[in-house]
Amino acid sequence: MNKVTVAEDIFWVGVVDWNIRDFHGYITSRGTTYNAYLILDQKTALVDTVKHNFAKELLRNVEDLADLDKIDYIIVNHVEMDHSSGLPRVMEKAKNATIIASEKGKEAIICHYGNNFNIQTVKTGDTLKLGDRTLTFVEAPMLHWPDSMMTYVTPEKILMPNDAFGQHLASSQRFDDEVDEHVLMEEAKKYYANILTPLGPLITRKIQEVVAMGVAPTIIAPSHGIVWRSNPSRIVNAYLQWSEGKSRRKVVIVYDTMWGSTDKMAHAIAEGATSQGAEVKILKLRATDLTEIVTQIHDSKAVIVGSPTLNNQMFPTLGSFLTYIAGLRPKGKVWSFFGSYGWGGGAVRGMTEMARKAGFEIHQPGIEVKYIPSSDDLQKCFELGKQIASEI
Ligand code: FEO
Repeated sequence: MNKVTVAEDIFWVGVVDWNIRDFHGYITSRGTTYNAYLILDQKTALVDTVKHNFAKELLRNVEDLADLDKIDYIIVNHVEMDHSSGLPRVMEKAKNATIIASEKGKEAIICHYGNNFNIQTVKTGDTLKLGDRTLTFVEAPMLHWPDSMMTYVTPEKILMPNDAFGQHLASSQRFDDEVDEHVLMEEAKKYYANILTPLGPLITRKIQEVVAMGVAPTIIAPSHGIVWRSNPSRIVNAYLQWSEGKSRRKVVIVYDTMWGSTDKMAHAIAEGATSQGAEVKILKLRATDLTEIVTQIHDSKAVIVGSPTLNNQMFPTLGSFLTYIAGLRPKGKVWSFFGSYGWGGGAVRGMTEMARKAGFEIHQPGIEVKYIPSSDDLQKCFELGKQIASEI
């Protein structure tokens, strides 16, 4: 492969997964990468590995730069299998390597791959001298697994934070100044919204802690996507803003429909919200994936959710959506519910109950109409959209 130099004697040796479209449910419409970095000094360190089916490619990339049995350390910042499932294969070849991981990382490596490796544990502030370079480790428990940690390389000031600041973006380019910045930020936001939303307060505290330690990266090299080298503070500031839950005057309408009644209601609500000058997104489940829906909700102030009643329940796609969004716990939004039914009803009641259990702020009452919405019903929908938009 062509050498990808991050800094002198520090190389990207990861792989590009162009074809993945479903990453454990996260829809990766632009593919992804699994980034690993090789540091050549008096001691040689490989930071992170890759998904198992790409291990051979990683080994080839490393071999172009160093003998595999000359690797002294393999830093495992995070044990989720997109980064670690190539580790056993790498350890077969890197026979002299010691694995460096957090205490929880060691536990997770043993749970996943058995107690077969020489593992040295580190905690926040511990350092490892490679020669001219020193690695400093920062534990980041629950960002986003208990084992997660970051590696800071000095004197180059390169932060390798694993998942944090990543994006699911396959590209032949490796650096932020080489790619379309709108696509880059869109994918970074999508990644934050779908993975890190519940962790906002932890993120703010961790960034403050890292800054207080004197970590001031000139390059941020995450484990997915593009490396931030032109202006790394841009993504740090974006994370700080996102973690505060900053939102726009935007209403997202998420719904599904069987014979078109809930669809008509959704559009009437949208007209009402639009009449107040709010930005509106209408997103039909089964036409839009949950990953995109969550990204749209991320910076909205109101979410209005509609479902027909099927067998006295909400339509199944709504169950899936509400389960996903309840787990992500987005803050600072108003929620409202609407839908149609033929005889017994139940969808609006069921959705409202789920939202209540999730701790969402609910705008009452929702609207439920029988069979086909009349012009009066559609006027009520319009008024609901108008009222919510005027309140946000
Ligand atoms: Fe990219 Fe949490 O793994």
